Amino acid sequence: MSEIFTKRILIIGLGLIGGSIARGLKNACKEIEIFAADSDEKALESAKKSGVVDRSGSLAELLPRVDVAVIALPSMTSAELIAAIADTANDHCIVTDVASVKTLIVEAVQKQPAAFQERFVPGHPIAGSEQSGFAASTADLFVDRNVILTPHGNSSPTAIALINDLWRSLGAHVLGMELGKHDEILAATSHLPHLLAYAIVDVLAEQHQSESIFKYAAGGFAGFSRLASSNAKMWSDIFVANADATCNVLDAYIERLQQFKEKITEHDHDFLYNRFANAKIVRDEFIDRYFGGKVNQVARESEVTYLVEPGGTVSGCIRVPGDKSISHRSIIFGSIAEGITRISGFLEGEDSLNTLNAFREMGVTITGPDNGEVTLYGVGKDGLKAPRVPLYMGNSGTAMRLLAGLLAAQNFTSELTGDESLSQRPMSRVVDPLQEMGAVIDAAEGGTPPLRICGSNLKGIDYKMNIASAQVKSCLLLAGLYAEGDTTVSEPAPCRDHTERMLQGFGYELEKDLVNGKTTVSGGGILKGTDIDVPADISSAAFFLVAASITPGATLRLEHVGMNPTRTGIINLLQAMGAKIEVSNEKLVGGEPVADLLVSSAELQGINVPEDQIPLAIDEFPVFFIAAACAKGVTELHGAEELRVKESDRLEAMATGLRILGIELETFADGIRIEGGNIGGGMVDSFGDHRIAMAFVIAGLRANAPIQIRNCANVATSFPGFLNIAREAGIKLAESTERS
Ligand code: S3P
Repeated sequence: MSEIFTKRILIIGLGLIGGSIARGLKNACKEIEIFAADSDEKALESAKKSGVVDRSGSLAELLPRVDVAVIALPSMTSAELIAAIADTANDHCIVTDVASVKTLIVEAVQKQPAAFQERFVPGHPIAGSEQSGFAASTADLFVDRNVILTPHGNSSPTAIALINDLWRSLGAHVLGMELGKHDEILAATSHLPHLLAYAIVDVLAEQHQSESIFKYAAGGFAGFSRLASSNAKMWSDIFVANADATCNVLDAYIERLQQFKEKITEHDHDFLYNRFANAKIVRDEFIDRYFGGKVNQVARESEVTYLVEPGGTVSGCIRVPGDKSISHRSIIFGSIAEGITRISGFLEGEDSLNTLNAFREMGVTITGPDNGEVTLYGVGKDGLKAPRVPLYMGNSGTAMRLLAGLLAAQNFTSELTGDESLSQRPMSRVVDPLQEMGAVIDAAEGGTPPLRICGSNLKGIDYKMNIASAQVKSCLLLAGLYAEGDTTVSEPAPCRDHTERMLQGFGYELEKDLVNGKTTVSGGGILKGTDIDVPADISSAAFFLVAASITPGATLRLEHVGMNPTRTGIINLLQAMGAKIEVSNEKLVGGEPVADLLVSSAELQGINVPEDQIPLAIDEFPVFFIAAACAKGVTELHGAEELRVKESDRLEAMATGLRILGIELETFADGIRIEGGNIGGGMVDSFGDHRIAMAFVIAGLRANAPIQIRNCANVATSFPGFLNIAREAGIKLAESTERS
């Protein structure tokens, strides 16, 4: 049962929103005690009669007796009442509000004693309508609606978690947002449209033939003017409270109206047509995306094709997006930590966003991502809530395998699903050892997703991995945080150690035996929120390391690249081939080494890949094979069967494409032999694998004819903005999108 149902709650203002909160809570749990205060005696009577409210009275009477108070009044009235509430409420009462403008609420809160500030969580359900009053309230008003929490600097994570729980139990999706940003965005999306509706009705009402205007108005007018039926007090409050942000967007709108007026006067049909056609496309797309239940799926319904023309160059200075492995982990650990975690440089790619959304669904309040900035209000190791839907991990093996370890130890059941590629990837590598720890977890036939997990008590094990997999290691260490006793994982060869570094950053002790490749954690400790600066992803930088190496005359600087020694295999391999890569500005950022890399064109020579480099370059082989195809002589790789079970069978996918481009090669069960040669043009397929798609873009730099690459939508999973960064560097790359 949700913690919120054990609390006594006071609703201050029993209108549409307050009434719907009361109804929704009572509907979900008859035993919950709801008090209400309102000046409308009739509303209170009706609420008590229908069993929605247990008791009514004055604030002075009720406030000292409740655990939670929800201020459900217009913005200005709410702000004016805050001092009185701070005075009257008891010292454990958590207070929240639902006002549409947040800055003025927080200004009022910040004038109160520090202890009250900690207990105040500003909120805003995006669920209002033109209707108002208790009579219009419904128990399901918030189901599947977004609620934005805008925690101010002093809101305590415990208070935030409780208010998050309140909204979750009403069926809402809780998002976090920075205060100022909330007011700016709402000015554009909600406040401006209301102003326009009021204005048009107001103007038409004053026209001398207003009666006829309204009489003959069709559905369009009714639709457009609907918002003018909204509560006048509430909306006049909003404009006064959010004057600056509204005026900014209003200025831009007035300017556009003036322009339209001029163009209408000039009979400039083309201008109007173009603006309208553009607006139609934009609106159709956002309705489809955000109101059609298709968030994150639009790209998948489109066929994205890349076209690379020969003759591109590579120069300048770039910073590629944040590290994917570290981004996933920063969300996972920040969520189960106590206190606040602030992340910068977070990768806003689909994979890490799916992880972020999974933790939102499990009751963690998260603001951002906004330009790579994310703030997590940690709920502590035992604070996650049962997800209400299967958790969708998209294309990400890392997300699914790491979460499997964490979820196996929770006190709820859950299900992890993925896209077509992930649904075919092996999960027994985590399911088997987790079952050894006592986990109740099932995969589909053949050991593939979905994973169904029934959280249980785990016991530590000593596990020897037969593959050097950081995903398996991290999964078991996560489970080990909850297990009884010690959990030790041995790796056959060193593989990425971000989990270990980050755990230490969150203040969790672990033992690392480097000689024997063993890592041990003991269950039962706690993680403490921290700040994380995510370095640029060396796996994304790798495309440009190869690009500059194979392009005559190229010189490129890559900034702030993650240089964790368990990830730098690609640099070692390229240097062994004769690449010119200078490392400078080396520093340690939050426990992870970073540096700037200066790479310039070089004559590459084929090599035999040393097996110990495979786990250190595991994700970089697609683009490494392009370097091999451009090198003199033969490059041979063995011991890399893992490449067959990544987002695609990367040995086959690369071999197929390289053959089309005229490269001689041979594949083995565990590797490939590539003879350097001339790259031709043609049409290749990425098989939906982001890294295969980007590797063939790099091949285009040395091709003697255009290369067309099909199936590139998944580039967004790890490298949002790839097209622009590649073009900026000088690659002649174009994209075409076709809806299928
Ligand atoms: C990852 C580990 C690697 C890598 C993946 C990310 C991680 O997988 O291929 O892209 O973040 O732990 P394996 O450890 O299974 O090889």
